[in-house]
Amino acid sequence: ETINIEKYRPSLHYSPKKNWLNDPNGLIYFKGEYHLFYQHNPHDSKWGPMHWGHAVSKDMIKWEELDIALYPDKLGTIFSGSAVIDWHNSSGFFPEEPGMIAIFTHHFVEPNQTEPVQSQSLAFSYDQGRTWTKYEGNPVLKHSTKVDFRDPKVFWHSKSEKWIMILATGQTITIYSSPNLIDWQLESEFGEGIGSHEGVWECPDLFELNVENSDEKKWVLLVSIGDNPLFDKGSRTQYFIGTFDGSTFTADNSNNEVLWLDFGKDNYAGVSFSDIPREDNRRIYLGWMSNWRYANQVPSQGWRGQMTLPRVLTLRYIEDKLKIVQKPVKELDRYFTKKYEIYDEIIISKVEKTIEIDESSLEIVLNIDNLNAEKFGLVLYYTETQKTTVTIDASKNLLTLDRKDSGEVHFSEIFANSQEVKIHDSKRINLRIIVDASSVEMFVNDGNYALSSLIFSDKVCEKVSIFSLDGDIRIRNYSISSPNL
Ligand code: FRU
Repeated sequence: ETINIEKYRPSLHYSPKKNWLNDPNGLIYFKGEYHLFYQHNPHDSKWGPMHWGHAVSKDMIKWEELDIALYPDKLGTIFSGSAVIDWHNSSGFFPEEPGMIAIFTHHFVEPNQTEPVQSQSLAFSYDQGRTWTKYEGNPVLKHSTKVDFRDPKVFWHSKSEKWIMILATGQTITIYSSPNLIDWQLESEFGEGIGSHEGVWECPDLFELNVENSDEKKWVLLVSIGDNPLFDKGSRTQYFIGTFDGSTFTADNSNNEVLWLDFGKDNYAGVSFSDIPREDNRRIYLGWMSNWRYANQVPSQGWRGQMTLPRVLTLRYIEDKLKIVQKPVKELDRYFTKKYEIYDEIIISKVEKTIEIDESSLEIVLNIDNLNAEKFGLVLYYTETQKTTVTIDASKNLLTLDRKDSGEVHFSEIFANSQEVKIHDSKRINLRIIVDASSVEMFVNDGNYALSSLIFSDKVCEKVSIFSLDGDIRIRNYSISSPNL
C-alpha cells in the first residue's frame, strides 16, 4: 500500500510534517512570535522517546515548523512543560537581555527497571527558542518517592513576587515556589477528595480569568486526566474555579460537581500561553486534538497528532454557575470569507435545507429558534455516505454529535460513540462550526460549550443540510464561509 502523507492533513490546525505529536508545551509569546513547542517523536508516527518539537506563528493559525528544540540527554527523555521569559534575570542566565527559559520533565527509565524517575529541569535560549542550553545543575526538582511527578507549568505571581510551579503528582496537583526558577520550595497540594479521579492527573495550568462583563476575577485550575480503560470517555480535561493566594489553591465547587472543559472526545493536555502582552489581556488556550484511548491508532499516515484551534477563555455565569466559555481567537476570522448567507427562513418538519459546497475547510454560523420541533439540527455530508450529524433534542435539552458514519471509525471501540452535552436552553441555539480536513470543532451558544472531534472522512464537507423533525424551526441567520488561505 502506498502511503499518502497529505490525506487528513488539516489546513487551519497545526500538525507535524512527519511523525508523532502529542501535548502542546512551552506555549509563549515573545518578540512578535507565538511559540508552540510540543511532545514529539521524530523517529516514528507513534509515541516514543519524547523531544520538544517547535513551530512559530504570527497569528497562531499559520505555523512554521522549525528544528527540534530539545533532545533527550543522559537525564532522560523530554516530557511536557512550560516556558517563561525571565524579564528581570532572576535566574542569572540573562545578564544582557531577557530570554526564554523552558521548564520540563526529564523522564528516565533505568535499564532493567520498569518504574520511571521523573524530575524537573531547565533549559535556556538566547535566540528566541531556536537553540537551547540545558542548565548544568539539572534536575532542579525531584522527589524521592513519587513516580508520577511531571508537567511543570510555571508563572510569575506578582503579588507574592515569586515564581509558582504547579505540577501533576499522581492524582493531585502540587504547588511549589521559587525566587529564581532553580531553588524550589513546597507550598501546598490540591485535589484529594475533589474532582474526577478517573485517571492520572496530568498537564495542569493555573491562571486568573475575568468574568465576562464585570470586574470580577477568579483563579482557574485546569487538570487533564489520563485514560482509564474502566471508563468510556478516554482522556479529558476537568477544571476548578476558586482562589489562589500565592501558596494554596482553594476550589469553590463545594458540591463537587465535575466541570468539563470540552464535550467532544478530542481535546487533551491543553494549556495556555505565557507572556501575552498585558494590553492584549487574553488568556489563550490550545489543546492536543486527540485522545489517549486511540491516539496511536488514528489513520493518518506518516504523521499523527494535531492541535485544536487556539481559543480565548473567559468565565461566564450560566444558570447562576460560573463556567469557562471558549471561542476561537479573532485571528481566525481573516481566514474565512462568507460565501453563502440567509436570514429569517422557516424550515418545516421533514423538509431539509441543503447547501452544496466544495472546500478544504469551512466555517458555519447558525442561529435557530425552535418553534415547536422535537428534534432539529444539521448534517455535514463529506461524501454520499459519510456524514456527521448534530442533533438537538428539545425535550431533553441534549445536543449530540454523532460521527459513527463519518468514514474511518473502527480503529477504536469508543471512537464511534456519540458525544453529547446537556444545554441549559434549546429554544434558541447558536452554533459556530469549524470543519477542517480531519476535524469538527463546534462552539455552542456563544462558546458556552465546546465539542472538539476528530473525523476521518474521505473528503472534506461537500454539503450541509439543516433538518427539523415533528415541528418547525426558524433560521434567524445562517452563513457558510470558505477559506482564503
Ligand atoms: C499527557 C502526557 C504528559 C507527559 C506527556 C508524555 O498527554 O502523558 O503527562 O508529560 O504526555 O508524552
